[in-house]
Amino acid sequence: MEKEHIKIAVIAGDGIGPEVLAEGVKVLKKVAELDGTFAFDFTYFPWGCEYYLKTGKMLPDDGIETLSHFDAIYLGAVGYPGVPDHISLRGLLLRIRHDFDEYVNLRPVKLLKGAPCPLAGVRNEDIDMVFVRENSEGEYAGAGSWLYPGTPRETVIQDSVFSRYGCERIMRYAYELARKEHKTLTSISKGNALNYSMVFWDQIFKEMGEQYPDVETHSYLVDAASMFMVKDPKRYQIVVCSNLFGDILTDLGAAISGGMGLAAGANLNPERKYPSMFEPIHGSAPDIAGQGKANPLASIWSASQMLDFFGRKEWGSRVLNVIEEMLVEKRVLTPDMGGRATTREVGDEAVRKLEE
Ligand code: NAD
Ligand code: IPM
Ligand code: MN
Repeated sequence: MEKEHIKIAVIAGDGIGPEVLAEGVKVLKKVAELDGTFAFDFTYFPWGCEYYLKTGKMLPDDGIETLSHFDAIYLGAVGYPGVPDHISLRGLLLRIRHDFDEYVNLRPVKLLKGAPCPLAGVRNEDIDMVFVRENSEGEYAGAGSWLYPGTPRETVIQDSVFSRYGCERIMRYAYELARKEHKTLTSISKGNALNYSMVFWDQIFKEMGEQYPDVETHSYLVDAASMFMVKDPKRYQIVVCSNLFGDILTDLGAAISGGMGLAAGANLNPERKYPSMFEPIHGSAPDIAGQGKANPLASIWSASQMLDFFGRKEWGSRVLNVIEEMLVEKRVLTPDMGGRATTREVGDEAVRKLEE
């Protein structure tokens, strides 16, 4: 039988991006080697802030076209002091999410055994949710204007865009996931204050629920929802929310389930018309970059999401189990997890465990 070749574009990016991604690549290579029926072909692209400082661009003019021929993108982190964040992030990360219509941002918030949790009296099974974050429009639409710059009347307008098409497709994805996994679905919004966007969101969530009478639903306002994530996280299973709320709540999710060094995310174009992108949800962490302190487990978890997406769920679960075993054993972990190992040692240990 001929081997399936999965073509991955690697954009390691800035700061700790290259450090953590190298370990994820090691894990993916080992998985393919052990399996034998498929291979990952990695192609590296040097795009990011350094590239910008040399060329004035975050990626070349034909960069998106180049990426479109890959099966997936594996990304480290983007953004570094010296290049304004709105230029670097809009120019690369948000550009890829947008241009490849990666409208689902799937972010697990799951407290693995052995992972540090700042909440008292919480069992592992109490924190086990999946965020379905809208990833193509909403507060991130990039629409607005900057009027009378430099004058006393200077005014900025940042528009949110909520289309019926955009809301329906993200909610359909979330309802289908909840149905498939026999889980509850919670929508998080803010209809009491955002009288257009979030009233519309709530209305579509309710309308669409009529097609899913088997799915138990809840609807919370975002302020109370954040409070319950800390006070009573077990009430959440599948969660659907807008782009900005999802961004904020998943960092909170990371905080209650082990920290930024563990939180992973997948940017999916579910129809597979375009490549999907897998990444840790943390940034380039300039405060620890270049010191071998960065935790690569988030990027390894996102590699596990990639394996799931390509129909290799047994391997996806195996990789997640390896992460959990390492957290339980506490032998080879980075400082953020209370350990003394380097980024590379953590990656090597994950590979060693896969070989066992
Ligand atoms: P950050 O996620 O980079 O860092 C926040 C804190 O978490 C820091 O103290 C950092 O040391 C720690 N941290 C993050 N990842 C870690 C890891 N793997 N192991 C151990 N500790 C880790 O967020 P920030 O400081 O707000 O942003 C830094 C830069 O990254 C900015 O330019 C920002 O725009 C960008 N950013 C990029 C992405 C991305 O590329 N996906 C995501 C978030 C922020
Ligand atoms: C994330 C990041 C990005 C976001 C930034 C860097 C634009 O914080 O992936 O969570 O807000 O989506
Ligand atoms: Mn974020």
